[in-house]
Formats: sequence, structure tokens, C-alpha cells
Amino acid sequence: MKAEKKNSILKYTAALGAVSASLYLLSYYEAQTLPDMTLHPQNPDLVQRGQVLYSQYCAGCHGDNLEGQPGWQEKKALERRRAPPLDATGKAWRHSDKSLFIMTKFGVHALEGMGTLNSDMPAFEDTLKDEEIVAVLSYVESTWPKGDTDERENTSGPE
Ligand code: HEC
Repeated sequence: MKAEKKNSILKYTAALGAVSASLYLLSYYEAQTLPDMTLHPQNPDLVQRGQVLYSQYCAGCHGDNLEGQPGWQEKKALERRRAPPLDATGKAWRHSDKSLFIMTKFGVHALEGMGTLNSDMPAFEDTLKDEEIVAVLSYVESTWPKGDTDERENTSGPE
């Protein structure tokens, strides 16, 4: 297949995926009972529970100490993105609680302007309960300096 044609098929598939992901999210938002997506990095019990879940479900890619995979910034040079750090050296802290929750539950592409459908970042909706997602992300957030958290809270966009 010519590269050009392959490219346009890929774009088409990505667009379709984005549409169905947004539709899915829309129906999710319209559901009567929205989960509480607020993270609680100050809650030691929750953070401890989250740390256990992190080592089980996230550390394999994001690293034992949230350091990410080497070369994570070389987005363009690589076919697939490597896992970025989730500590304060990465960019995850710029996302709101809700954005972090959505990316972890539905995959990074579920957040507008982020990632692609073929991203290696799994969606955890069938693996982790909502409370577990909150726990794991509360642990992640507990490692961020407070200053970053303040700045982050003013950001609503994906970056
Ligand atoms: C199989 C590897 C893999 C596993 C397991 C994994 N991730 Fe990821 N994660 C990635 C990759 C790769 C990206 C970058 C995705 C992209 O941009 O397309 C990513 C991105 C993210 C981001 C966005 C970070 C940013 O800087 O914007 C968050 C948040 C995240 N992962 C959280 C988690 C959490 C929480 C877990 C465990 C519950 C987890 N990930 C497990 C591979 C993984």
C-alpha cells in the first residue's frame, strides 16, 4: 500500500475512534451517578493503598519511582510513545484531577488533544474500580510539590 493511502486510512481510523470515544464519554457524563474524581493526596490511608496499586498496575511502564521510561520525550522519533514520568519531572501534574481520572479510566486518547488510540497506555475501566483509580492517582499526586498542585488547579486544559 502506498504510504499516502495508508496514512489517510490511519487518519480516518483515528477520527472514527475519537468520535466513538467522545460519544462514550458523553453518555458516561450523562449517567446519573458520576463517580467522585477528586483526588486526596493528603489522605495517608488512601495514598498507601494507591501506592500498592501503583506498583501492581503502573510501575511496569511508569517506573518504580514514577520516573517514566528512558527516551519518553522523543515522541516524534518513536512509533509509539514511551511512558512519561508521573512524578513532578513530567507533565502529568499539569492535568486536573478529572483529566487524570479520565485518562486512567478510558485511556489517554479519551482526553481531547492527548495521545492516540494506539497508545500503549491501557484503559483501566475493566481492571480498576473508580475508588482504586482515585487511590492510585492520589498516590501519584502525593509525590508532587505543593506549589505544582496550586498551579495545576488553575489549569483546565489537557496540557
Ligand atoms: C503498558 C504500559 C503502561 C501502563 C501499565 C500504564 N501506563 Fe500510563 N502511560 C503509558 C504511555 C505510553 C503513556 C503516554 C501515552 C500517550 O501519550 O499516548 C502514558 C500516559 C499516562 C498519563 C498521562 C501523563 C502525561 O504526562 O500527560 C497518565 C496520567 C498515566 N499514564 C497514568 C497511568 C496510571 C495511573 C497507570 C496505572 C494504573 C498507568 N498509567 C499504567 C503507558 C502505560
